[in-house]
Amino acid sequence: MTTATATESALRWAVRDSLIRYVTVIAKGTHTVSGGAVEGDDGVFSFPLLRAVREGADWRMSFSGSVHFLAHNGLLDVLVTDPEIVIGPDGGVLATHIVGDPDELLAVVALEPAAHSETEAGLVWPEIGTQLAASAVDLFGTVYAAGTPMAPIGIRLTLDS
Ligand code: HEM
Repeated sequence: MTTATATESALRWAVRDSLIRYVTVIAKGTHTVSGGAVEGDDGVFSFPLLRAVREGADWRMSFSGSVHFLAHNGLLDVLVTDPEIVIGPDGGVLATHIVGDPDELLAVVALEPAAHSETEAGLVWPEIGTQLAASAVDLFGTVYAAGTPMAPIGIRLTLDS
């Protein structure tokens, strides 16, 4: 089993550019990062790694931190918290935890099959294409259909073994 260190290992995801523009500019709402997630100058959210485990050709990873979009007096309430990822040659999924039910996960986006590159520092998935999962259509107010392209995901794992 190969594991990765938490140092500098992170998931980078902007969720969807047009959503951030809509929430902040059009709906005059807010987006807040917490729990270790940070927003870069480029608008991409970065979630630090908690744990990464290789299972055959797949990698299963947990990250910490949240990004929370609020607008329309709370009618729009989109929370991506402590994201979990499975990625491998057959694709994968990014899921978020459900508030109030720590055991349950909601699949938010399907990930296109993606290979990683290996450097001395570790493993990098520079850009994984994503599409909205059917289970997350309600999360975004049914505005985006299942399959709608969302922001690509980048992952960096700094290996310690
Ligand atoms: C008071 C109620 C609401 C009004 C007046 C409203 C109005 C609008 C308008 C005018 C747009 C088009 C913006 C544009 O592209 O120019 C839009 C887009 C959108 N709305 Fe709302 N909306 C409301 C409630 C909601 C709620 C409750 C949600 C979700 C949970 C939501 C999610 C969205 C999303 C995801 C988009 C698409 C943003 C994009 O990617 O371009 N809206 N809304």
